[in-house]
Amino acid sequence: MINKGIILAGGTGTRMSPLTKAVNKQLLPIYDKPLIYYPLSILMLSGIKDILIIVNKGQLSQFKKILPNGNNLGIKITYVEQKYPKGLPDAFILGKKFVGKSNVALILGDNFFYGQSLTKKLKECVRLNKGASVILHPVSNPSSYGVATINKKNKITKIIEKPKKSFSNLAVTGLYFFDNDVIKYSENLKPSKRKEIEIVDLLNKYRKKNKLSAHFLGRGGAWLDTGSIKDFYSTSAFVSTLEKRQGLKIACLEEIALNNKWINKYNIMNAMKFYGKCSYSQYLSTFIRRK
Ligand code: DAU
Repeated sequence: MINKGIILAGGTGTRMSPLTKAVNKQLLPIYDKPLIYYPLSILMLSGIKDILIIVNKGQLSQFKKILPNGNNLGIKITYVEQKYPKGLPDAFILGKKFVGKSNVALILGDNFFYGQSLTKKLKECVRLNKGASVILHPVSNPSSYGVATINKKNKITKIIEKPKKSFSNLAVTGLYFFDNDVIKYSENLKPSKRKEIEIVDLLNKYRKKNKLSAHFLGRGGAWLDTGSIKDFYSTSAFVSTLEKRQGLKIACLEEIALNNKWINKYNIMNAMKFYGKCSYSQYLSTFIRRK
């Protein structure tokens, strides 16, 4: 079972400069809330309450203004700074103390997931005891991602980072589930040509032992990337279309915490005070009246 999660929310954000010169990418808006709310909501929907957020050096105070220690959401948030982007598996080296002897989920701070039965699927993923698993989703541009093939038992047979020649349309999304061996495996990784330790090398350690399996969001699920300015706008448009149509918010952290019974109506009222007069607070007030 996985009860700890890491959000990797560092990186230099160069592709989105000058927007990211003063503000961390994960604090920029996806429609009506900061990007970080979306990956955090995914961990919370999985039932994970103990969360480490890795941010880049000098940006801790920005994050703490909006997500202090998790008390307001009935969860525990701790932070670690990453001096420079050393690669995705660095999350487990920096997070070694946080992870301890537990199994752990990792979500990249710029990943967006949405879809029917998503919570049910996430709960299946966190049931992992041994080995590792990833979520695969079809994309039209696989060469921009980690790409995988599977066998009939949903075990991963091949996985390559940003392959030049296409061999599968199944991209590896930025949500990973690992047993505790991930710490030892990450510590033993050697930097690649681009001087980073690579997630694909880590996943291959599990694959070679036949311990890497795949989950799927299904065709009705959406996995969007917010890596570039264009992606930011299209993800914002997606959220705004759905929220306006349904009157329901995607990634409203307080709503998820209340549904999970981690907080009560009193906490929601405090949240409304914290946010002030805005549409997010208005939403909080309407759904506590409906409860
Ligand atoms: O989004 C899914 C893809 O994410 C996977 O398909 C790829 O296999 C995986 O390598 C990764 O590819 P990206 O090219 O998107 O990785 P990027 O280096 O852009 O990092 C993703 C996020 O993680 C980004 O928000 C910055 C953050 N990051 C990255 C590194 C390398 C850190 O916080 N620290 C780091 O050291």
